[in-house]
Amino acid sequence: MNKNPVCIFDSGIGGLTVLKRIVEEFPDENLIYLGDSARLPYGTKSPKILKKFAIQDTKFLIRFNPKLIIIACHTASSVASDFLRKRFPDIHFIDVINPTVNQALKITKNKRIGIIGTPTTIRRGKYKEELLKRKKNLKIFSKACPLFVPLVEEGWFDHPVTYQVAKIYLDGLKKKNIDTLILGCTHYPFLKNVIKKVMGNGINLVDPIDGIIEEMKNYISKNPSNSKNPSVTLYFSDINPYFKKVLTNLLKIKNYRLKHVNLEEKNV
Ligand code: DGL
Repeated sequence: MNKNPVCIFDSGIGGLTVLKRIVEEFPDENLIYLGDSARLPYGTKSPKILKKFAIQDTKFLIRFNPKLIIIACHTASSVASDFLRKRFPDIHFIDVINPTVNQALKITKNKRIGIIGTPTTIRRGKYKEELLKRKKNLKIFSKACPLFVPLVEEGWFDHPVTYQVAKIYLDGLKKKNIDTLILGCTHYPFLKNVIKKVMGNGINLVDPIDGIIEEMKNYISKNPSNSKNPSVTLYFSDINPYFKKVLTNLLKIKNYRLKHVNLEEKNV
C-alpha cells in the first residue's frame, strides 16, 4: 500500500476530461494535475520544444513521488512519450496512444477511420503509424483542427462560431465515409456534441478515457492506495478565473485545491 499520488499532465484544461473520470473511478487515490496553461498551445509547437516542456512537466511531478504519470495530452504523447520513458525509466507512464488505437480498432466496421488532432499530432502521424502496424487494410484520413483548442479554453463548447469552425474542418472527413473518428486531443471531448452534430449520427467518436481507466485498474490493483483523506490538487502555470467554473459547474469536481506553479524556475 502507498500514498503516492497519481499524476496527470496536459497543456491546459483538456486533461481535466481525463481527471474527471479518474476522480470518479479511483476515489481513494491522491491526484495531482498539472496544466501548463502559460505555454499553451502545445499543439502548434515543434517536437524539440515539446520534449523540453515534457521534461519540465515530468520533473515537477516527480517531486511528489508519483505512483504513475498519465500523459493526458495527445500532442505530448505523440512526440515525447517514448522519449520520456527512456529518460525517466523508474517512472510508470500511461499515455493516450495505445488506449485510443485499441478502441478505434474495436469500433470500426468499415475500416475507414478519421483522426482529428493538433497540427503537431497530425504531422507526427503516430496514430496512423500505430493503427497500420496492427491492421494493414485500413483507410485513414487525418485533419488538424488548430482552432478547437482556443475555442475550448474560451469555454465556447456550444457556440455558433464553434459550429462554423467544425463544419469547415470536418466537411472533408464527412465525405470520406468514415465510421470512426478519433478525438486525438484531450480538449476535443468538450466539443463532442458539436462534432457529433456536424459528422452526423453514423459516426463513432473515440475518446481514450475508457482505455486509460482499464490500464490504470491493472496497475493500481498492484499498487493500491491507503489514503484516509485523498485529495485532488491542480497546478496551473497560469491561472485563469474561468478554470474554477469548468471544474465546479461543468466537471462537477468538488474539494480540490488550485495552485500556481512556475515551470520555468530552475528548481522545478
Ligand atoms: N490537449 C492537448 C492534446 O491532447 C493539446 C492542446 C494544445 O494544443 O495545447 O493534444
